[in-house]
This record gives sequence, C-alpha cells and structure tokens, in this order.
Amino acid sequence: MTRFRIDQILSRHGYCSRGESRGWLKAGRITLRGIPVKDPSEKVLVEDLRVDGEPVDHPEGILVVLHKPAGLVCSRDEREGPNVFSLLPERWSRRNPPITSVGRLDKETTGLLLITDQGDLVQRWTSPRHKVTKRYLVEVDQDLDPTLVPLFASGSLRLPDESDPCLPATLTLVTPRTAHLDLVEGRYHQVRRMFASQGFRVISLHRSHFGALDLGDLPAGQWRAVVAESI
Ligand code: URA
Repeated sequence: MTRFRIDQILSRHGYCSRGESRGWLKAGRITLRGIPVKDPSEKVLVEDLRVDGEPVDHPEGILVVLHKPAGLVCSRDEREGPNVFSLLPERWSRRNPPITSVGRLDKETTGLLLITDQGDLVQRWTSPRHKVTKRYLVEVDQDLDPTLVPLFASGSLRLPDESDPCLPATLTLVTPRTAHLDLVEGRYHQVRRMFASQGFRVISLHRSHFGALDLGDLPAGQWRAVVAESI
C-alpha cells in the first residue's frame, strides 16, 4: 500500500491547501492512531489518518447518483446560474481532481445524474462506443404519433445541421403525451431536438435510468453512493 505526505492527502481530498495544512496540524486536527501529527511531510497510509476525528472522506474516489432537480445547471460557469454541485459537499469541489458530472442534463431536465471525481469513468460512460442506455420519461405538447416509434428505431433520423443520423433509439408510448425514450448517445439537447425535428415540443424531461442503475425513490436534490459495477 502506498504512503503519501499528509499535506498532499489533505489537499487532494479537498480539506485545505498544502500551505494551510501546517495550521491544521498545529491545531491538533490531524491524528494518526489517536496521536496528533506535527510534520506535514510525514508519509502515511490514508486509512490511518483522522481529520477532526473522522476517517478521510472517500479515499478511494467519489461516485454518487444525484437526483437533479429542475433549475440547476451542470456547468460551473456562474453566468449560467446555480449549479448541481451546490447540492453536494463543498469539499468535493476542492478535491484534486474535483467532482464533475458524467455528461450533462439541461437546466430544466430532472433525474438521474452521476457525479464522480474519476475521469476514466466519465470517459467510459459518455463515449457512444460503450453504448450505455439512458432512459428518459418525456412529456410533449401534443398527442404522440405512433409512427415516431419506427422512425426513432430506424437509425436514420437526422437532426438539423448534423451529418450523422441518430443511432437507433427505443420509444415506448406510455400515455397519449408521454413516452419512455431509451438512448445510447448523449448529443447536445438530443431528446428535445429529436422531438422538435418531428414538430413536438418537450414539456418535461426526466432521466430515470443510466445503464442498469435506477434512480428509484431518491428524493429530488438528494444523492447516494453507488458502485461502478452497478452501472
Ligand atoms: N436530452 C435533452 O434534450 N436534454 C437533456 O437534459 C438530456 C437529454
């Protein structure tokens, strides 16, 4: 098992900068098997360290599912408005690497959003090559036309200004104006644009599944830890 410098552990996990770590140690906030440590350069096993008496937060990395409410963006650009990261512990955004969302949902889209600090997982689950199925519940402004089902499944639907047609998608009609849509891609505003291309306006959009993962009854604004194998 690898030992790391204490100041490095503290900064990597978002507690404080390496420069600030000296103050944390001085204040006796960092202990090793019950004994306050003094030297920030001391190399230790992460699992042996306690910060304010608590084990180091998620030393193995963060992977959580968040129920995104409407009105929050997935970008950190403050000009775009309040973001989903405000729902999660602030320290997670100070980690190195910081947390990010696995793909994005539009500001008004609700539902399942994965959050992680592991770039390889983002890469794996956003690449169309890996074909992770995302399920959306879509409500539109007028009665759905059953001919949309074979059109979306055909793999020939072209979105305006795009040369490649959409990969086959499964549309399942639920009520006259609602349907489930299973997609393996994640193009910009894809669901809204697929329906718009056929004259429908999406009134509400909710993602309920990501691969084998189901949002379940997780309340809006809440998150829970998941394991990569469950996806
Ligand atoms: N497709 C959209 O149009 N919006 C989303 O948020 C997700 C998929």
